[in-house]
Amino acid sequence: MSTGRPARAFSARLIDWQRQHGRHDLPWQNTRDAYRIWLSEIMLQQTQVGTVIPYYARFIERFASIEALAQAPLTTVLERWAGLGYYARARNLHRCAQTVVADHRGAFPSDLPLLNELPGIGRSTAAAISIFAFGKRAAILDGNVKRVLARCFGIDAPPGLAQTEKTMWSLADALLPKTHIEAYTQGLMDLGATVCTRSKPSCETCPLHAMCIARQENRQAELPVAKPGKVLPERETTLLLLTDGQRVLLERRPPAGIWGGLLALPEAGASGASALARRHGCRLLDTQRMPALKHSFSHFRLTIQTVRCSVEARASLAAEAGWEWLAHSEIETAALPTPIRRLLRMLRESTQQTPE
Ligand code: ADE
Repeated sequence: MSTGRPARAFSARLIDWQRQHGRHDLPWQNTRDAYRIWLSEIMLQQTQVGTVIPYYARFIERFASIEALAQAPLTTVLERWAGLGYYARARNLHRCAQTVVADHRGAFPSDLPLLNELPGIGRSTAAAISIFAFGKRAAILDGNVKRVLARCFGIDAPPGLAQTEKTMWSLADALLPKTHIEAYTQGLMDLGATVCTRSKPSCETCPLHAMCIARQENRQAELPVAKPGKVLPERETTLLLLTDGQRVLLERRPPAGIWGGLLALPEAGASGASALARRHGCRLLDTQRMPALKHSFSHFRLTIQTVRCSVEARASLAAEAGWEWLAHSEIETAALPTPIRRLLRMLRESTQQTPE
């Protein structure tokens, strides 16, 4: 790929644009605190800035330092993560904090390969941390940056192939400016998020307008080349929602697998609703189907059928280890996967008394 003049024009325009039109007041900017920068980069891996901001604030409030995070139980970490999705990120985050405390005395290494070895930190995230926390010169390449590069340089190689990845990384490296790496990197992120958007990019306001091949050839909609549509397998599950009208029975999911470590409704197994009720000191009064919910994971789509089971407690409700009776007032703060929280909100709304 072209280095030299086009690369210099690319970075100079981007840096200028970032200074005038980029984002400068995000909660993880204007600091060199590697803990805060790392946390933001992990949250931003699969989630947009607007969604991340309130989670980030609540997370920092609860875990003010990497030591606080490393010492906290995983369930507390998952509670603050609940709703952001991709929970492997939260488990890796916790492992990473423990590794940094144990192996690096609580200070993130500035060295790119060492950062890249830590749990949950891939090549692009390692680069972003080393740039924003340590001012190092390194290339990032996330989904937004790939889109900007594919359009600007007219790259139509098939996505996902090792060779295409290699070409993209070489291009990202070749484009790096000698100085102002922070403004340059932030500019790439900001441009991808606010101007060179996937649909309806604002080419009129783009600083790369004059050199962009996609714009010259009117191929913005074709580039980057779309990944062949993945047909996700469909799965279905039936969940039991045991409630005495005040509280709901939840089970903590095993640490690995979907919703690992979060609280969820138990799946209807071989034993059925009456056996589950008996086991938890209740008598089953009535069952009723709730509306089905659909939820997409990265590798399958799940249809969730839920049977609401009204129960009467034989004695005061006490949960076994790994189980919890959750009150309606705890629905918003517990470590629940999003579809389970939606179901519990539906239940709460249906049981709330209407004033006479
Ligand atoms: N996406 C990934 N990292 C980001 C950052 N530091 N600022 C804004 N968006 C981002």
